[in-house]
Amino acid sequence: MPPSPLKVALPAILAALLSAPPLAAQGTPATATASAEIDLEALLARMTTAEKVGQLVQRMGGRQRALNSRLTPEELDLVRAGKVGSFLHVAGAEPLRELQRVAVEESRLGIPLLFAMDVVHGYRTIFPVPLAIAATWDPADAESAARIAAREASAAGLHWTFAPMVDVARDPRWGRIVEGAGEDPFLGSAMAVAQVRGFQGASLAAPDTLMAATKHFGAYGAAEGGRDYAGADISERTLRETYLPPFEAAAAAGTASYMTAFNALGGVPVTGNAALLRGLLRYEWGYDGVLVSDWRSIDELIAHGVAGTRTEAARLALEAGVDIDMVSDVYAEEVAALAEADPALMALLDEAVLRILRAKRDLGLFADPFQYHDTAREAAVMLAAEHRAEARRIAERAIVLLENSGKVLPLAKDAGKIALIGALADDAPSALGSWKARGLPEDVVTLRAALEAAHPGVTYVAEGVDAALAAAIAADVVILALGEDFDRTGEARSFAEIGLPREQKELLFKVLEVGKPLVVVLMGGRPLAAPELSGLDEAAVLGAWLLGVESGPALVSTLFGDNNPAGRLPATFPRASGAVPFAYDQLPSGRPADEDLANDTVRWRDQPTLPLWPFGHGLSYTTFGYGELTLDRANIPANGGTVTVSIPVTNTGERPGEEVVQLYMRDPVASVSRPVKQLRGFRRVPLQPGETRTVSFTLSAAHFALWAQAGAWMVEPGAIELMAGGASDRIEARATLTIEGEHVSDRSPASIPVESSVD
Ligand code: NOJ
Repeated sequence: MPPSPLKVALPAILAALLSAPPLAAQGTPATATASAEIDLEALLARMTTAEKVGQLVQRMGGRQRALNSRLTPEELDLVRAGKVGSFLHVAGAEPLRELQRVAVEESRLGIPLLFAMDVVHGYRTIFPVPLAIAATWDPADAESAARIAAREASAAGLHWTFAPMVDVARDPRWGRIVEGAGEDPFLGSAMAVAQVRGFQGASLAAPDTLMAATKHFGAYGAAEGGRDYAGADISERTLRETYLPPFEAAAAAGTASYMTAFNALGGVPVTGNAALLRGLLRYEWGYDGVLVSDWRSIDELIAHGVAGTRTEAARLALEAGVDIDMVSDVYAEEVAALAEADPALMALLDEAVLRILRAKRDLGLFADPFQYHDTAREAAVMLAAEHRAEARRIAERAIVLLENSGKVLPLAKDAGKIALIGALADDAPSALGSWKARGLPEDVVTLRAALEAAHPGVTYVAEGVDAALAAAIAADVVILALGEDFDRTGEARSFAEIGLPREQKELLFKVLEVGKPLVVVLMGGRPLAAPELSGLDEAAVLGAWLLGVESGPALVSTLFGDNNPAGRLPATFPRASGAVPFAYDQLPSGRPADEDLANDTVRWRDQPTLPLWPFGHGLSYTTFGYGELTLDRANIPANGGTVTVSIPVTNTGERPGEEVVQLYMRDPVASVSRPVKQLRGFRRVPLQPGETRTVSFTLSAAHFALWAQAGAWMVEPGAIELMAGGASDRIEARATLTIEGEHVSDRSPASIPVESSVD
């Protein structure tokens, strides 16, 4: 059995890398734009060791001071001395122009600085949180949001965003599930590619694009128990098949940088993990862009217990391949002495410096260091009308109709008196979610504001059970805003209990006793364990996430049917906090949990095994019917060729609507146990009442590969079951494909895009 790259010893990896041709001779990376003006090798040759190290140093420009980003005289002296390569949490075209001027005009070599920020789901125009954007199941929406975020952030002088966050998350206790695309590697890969494209555009050198930092490399989302920063201990197959594909997809899309995760993988902290960073990312994937640590994660190698001193931490991170030290100053203090004492480390330092200089060149900074500092553009672009309109369109598309018993929704335009209950309905900061960059609460139109503007008879009650009940009794319909505010999800916001808060449940039960038609608007940045919300009579539930500046108008147009909701869940909603982690693509068991409730099967005894709302779930105000799933060929050779899988879908109801057609695969007999379902295609299709359209997906044999025991991607012979439908639990049609022969593939199947078309 060949050794997997992860098991190759570090000395071998380093030896291979050091004997490789110098970076400059390896050709232009995928992300680079041709720019002949600057000879980076020559520049490197002129740098002192201290100046080289300076490029690796990232300092905080000051979160609090970010709107003017003016540095202290001491900080400016560091810039003049060439001891800083980049700043984070800075903003503003004018102050950053001045800072850049100091670097370019007053430092010996005049190397421009990089300015970075977490621009995640918007800069000033805040879009739905990333988990909600994933619920659109439309990568074009993710690309558009990222494009607008880049346009605004670059106008504020920024070059680099710490996004997209592509960590696969299957444990909703983990607060950072809000920042990514949910539980599935295939959907996550598509969203990763879209965001890299959106941020980076066609050219990094364009003044309205940002360099992406795809994060947090490794398996940060597999943090044990959903506790942020906890280690991940997963098999290599799970790492390769589930957690790495979105990173791999981002590499193929040309992400110009990655950020390393805080946590450890199999006991080795990622920031000092040479096998993962140099071995897998750089050597196996051939990735040659910039690697930035997470916040102080080089220094944290000491707390992890793999380095005894900051000197050891510096050596570990440099050897592992981390180019930039985010704020811990370990590189600033330690790397010069290390490199001067050891030519091998000096070579690694030179490589890191070249990668950073190349990024600066690709951003166009050597050609024009001030091109991102245009105050007129900054003034014109922020919260532009077309940006707001796009934020609204995407918010509408992110809403998921989770329940609709008694067809409570859509409401009639003359719905009568409406009781709107719950503080979340008027919580502007929460609509912005976590990572709001320069988003402002006053930019938000809340549900309350939008509903009151649209409808005459609204009584709003923020809190207080008595007032809420009085309003419900007097109303014709009750809208109840439940869920979690912005501060319950995001970094360091993990919770062991992820049900509805007790007060909200009590309020819900009392409102239900009043017996009025009920609409629950369920907000928050994670899937909640809220079994109270299913199986009710005359009750609808809208999955409303944290929807950004246009939260209220998007919800109101959905409540009244001007928008027919078509979002789908990118992550499973469990029935209980104890029922996580959970994902739809489970491995089969020798004792399958059939629902006849036989005892000795893979199930919980105290509750149904099936989740509350599964991956891919989402209802509509109309209905859809499916025809047969057909293949353009019954067999495909393992070593090549494509198969086109087609399915007709019809709007069988009375309203225009959109269906998200989902294609799943299963390999029923393979050398290793395979998931009961794996997503391999999806397409959101608009359909008029009575209209039928045929959706086709074109897959290659490589889409059916698995990570084999031999440590390679293998396409194995035999049957592949294909399944299509409107959710992971709503399979409408099946077909079987046969793979002939076997073949070693070079990439994770979930990371490979699938072409789709609609006729
Ligand atoms: C820590 C977070 O983990 C990371 O996602 C973020 O980019 C950095 N802080 C910088 O703000």
